[in-house]
Amino acid sequence: MFKLKKVVKARKRIAVLTNLLFKLFQISLRYKENRKEYGIEIFEYFYLPWRTDKDFNDAYDQIKTFTLNPKSRLFTIYEMSKKYLKNDSVFLEVGSWKGGVCGLVSLTNENKNIEIFASDSFEGVKKASVDDTFFKNGEYDDATKLDIDQINKFSPHKIKIVEGTFPESFKNELINSISVAHIDVDTYISAKESFEYISERLISGGVVILDDYGGWFTDGVTKFGNELKENKNYFVIPNHLGQLIIFKI
Ligand SMILES: C[S@@+](CC[C@H](N)C(=O)[O-])C[C@H]1O[C@@H](n2cnc3c(N)ncnc32)[C@H](O)[C@@H]1O
Repeated sequence: MFKLKKVVKARKRIAVLTNLLFKLFQISLRYKENRKEYGIEIFEYFYLPWRTDKDFNDAYDQIKTFTLNPKSRLFTIYEMSKKYLKNDSVFLEVGSWKGGVCGLVSLTNENKNIEIFASDSFEGVKKASVDDTFFKNGEYDDATKLDIDQINKFSPHKIKIVEGTFPESFKNELINSISVAHIDVDTYISAKESFEYISERLISGGVVILDDYGGWFTDGVTKFGNELKENKNYFVIPNHLGQLIIFKI
């Protein structure tokens, strides 16, 4: 039976275990976290709907080897695209890597008339700067266009692949009416420039999902996300799964 006193006791035990976990995490990485706003907290809201949603899991099983994103964050993209990706509009992912997210969006929105753009340098992370403590450029350089060609074999829409450093790589693309976008680029400048390009072409009510927000080694993206939180033209919500959800008002 539910007893609040027992819950309070269980919370204390979990707090001890999470402190220990965070210590073990740092020991295994030989890394000392000195920033006070970083740590592990186990939230008591144990609802994990991505475990049982059948349509999501069917799509996930097809794309899981083509993405670095965990199920929890993919579920956000699945839900957001189902609701906000409009007919006759564009989904754009900057930092598509092997294309799993684009594949998921295509499978999820099978019956919609949409264009899907996958953008990647295929040379790894770009534009690292003084705002990025950990990234130096070139990380995640293990994806090629051929990976996304594999997704195109089963995805309901033909994903258009644009190779090169974003946004310069899009100078010859005529894109308007983006209704959903995913930015997954790891550095401050790339995140900022991606958002600037997308926001100019985002329809009213459109949504941008900024990945890497809050990651301990993606502090440049967190910095940019915090700047966006101050911007009154957007409705900005962190979901604390590693994503910042940005709506154009
Ligand atoms: C963490 S990976 C993306 C993971 C992917 N979204 C997924 O679901 O697995 C980051 C990707 O961003 C790409 N990237 C970073 N900055 C970029 C830029 N300015 N232009 C194009 N690609 C970029 C890298 O090449 C890399 O493939």
